[in-house]
Amino acid sequence: MALPKDLALRFPGDFLFGVATAAYQIEGATSEDGRKPSIWDAFSKMPGRVYQRHSGDMACDHYHLWESDLDLIKSLGVDAYRFSIAWPRILPDGRGPVNEKGLDFYDRLIDGMVARGLKVYPTLYHWDLPLTLAGDGGWTARSTAEAFADYTEIVVKRLGDRMDALATINEPWCICHLSHLYGIHAPGEKSIVAFAASVHTLNLAHGLGVQAARAVKPNLPMGIVINAHSVYPASDAPQDRQAAERAFQFNNGIFFEPMFEGSYPADVLSAFGDHMDIRDGDLETIHQPLDWWGLNYYTPLRVKADTNVGAAYPMAETVPPTPGPELTDIGWEVYEKGLSDLLKDLDTRYPLPDCYITENGACYNDEPQDGVVNDQRRIDYLEKHFGAIADAREAGVPVKGYFLWSLMDNFEWAEGYKMRFGIVHVDYGTQVRTLKNSALWYRDFLEAHRQG
Ligand code: NOJ
Repeated sequence: MALPKDLALRFPGDFLFGVATAAYQIEGATSEDGRKPSIWDAFSKMPGRVYQRHSGDMACDHYHLWESDLDLIKSLGVDAYRFSIAWPRILPDGRGPVNEKGLDFYDRLIDGMVARGLKVYPTLYHWDLPLTLAGDGGWTARSTAEAFADYTEIVVKRLGDRMDALATINEPWCICHLSHLYGIHAPGEKSIVAFAASVHTLNLAHGLGVQAARAVKPNLPMGIVINAHSVYPASDAPQDRQAAERAFQFNNGIFFEPMFEGSYPADVLSAFGDHMDIRDGDLETIHQPLDWWGLNYYTPLRVKADTNVGAAYPMAETVPPTPGPELTDIGWEVYEKGLSDLLKDLDTRYPLPDCYITENGACYNDEPQDGVVNDQRRIDYLEKHFGAIADAREAGVPVKGYFLWSLMDNFEWAEGYKMRFGIVHVDYGTQVRTLKNSALWYRDFLEAHRQG
């Protein structure tokens, strides 16, 4: 196993290292200071949606503990912190009156980061859609894209002066595929019509958001965070290879092509185009030049042709990971080559700007024993994936930074608090944070990187 020093030397001195979180997963205080419910507040309280009906009501209580959390982040020696801003704190009904107390919270948080010398990498939307907007159709309604642009303008006017870079949306795939087609995430829809509509609304919201941010602050580096899938055919058979390419377009092309080339993949249009309200000028709006893009990577996708399913449902062709030592505790395959292959593939297919790995990490549910959390499996995962990023960089892909998911254990959406991705352990009863061995490893790695 490479020592942190050897591995650290594969990254240039100006490579940015950070940790990442998201508002609903850590903040708690869901009805404080004027915040109104989001779709996740409602969804998590419905029976059978989230593990043991856990919710973000308390989460890591970061809304109150933010100062000590920033101290914790600083103590790791990272350069930057990626977090998200909760739309329902800023505009409790999604549009209309601004809640100044919501803006004040992020104002304090960002000032706290600046005071500690941490770079500020916010995301505007990490899934907590104001519930009122859901009543108007949510991501299936074009009006939500327009509301997102107004929200962006408000946030950038107040906070943009201290941001180092801004992401519009986190993981459009989860918002469209998981939330509107597979029904696993809020609002829990299972409809091809809702799915197709949400894809176009999401893409449009991104484009309108970039325009709105730039109208206020032209030099703010703008990007988006995409959980692109690293797709492999289950075999070399031509039908499996075709299924893999279909899956690539259905999962990745559907966002990358409009954003970076100004068109939709032909297969996507023929399968779902009738349900997408694409108007004149929309593709130009979506196709904004970006300063950077973010990749979230955890696991690969393996696909096998299934003659019973049409091109409309290529995800039905997914091969489930086989049980074995290479699965994390959430059941996801560990395959670091998926990350380097994906970076190289995307770089060849699309005209992409600089890339940041905006999320990468692993779910292992190790608990403290005598104050120590020995999460060696997470350390192994991180070492392998750092190596894969270095491989891609050395092959010429412009990867400029890395954010580890996650700073601390948090509300893992439909899995509730059962699944732990943090390098810091959270005791949800006491809110005590304990650095896991992976946090100490990351700190040593960063120290070695600084020493060069
Ligand atoms: C991606 C999401 O952005 C984040 O919210 C989630 O917790 C991690 N993946 C792990 O599933």
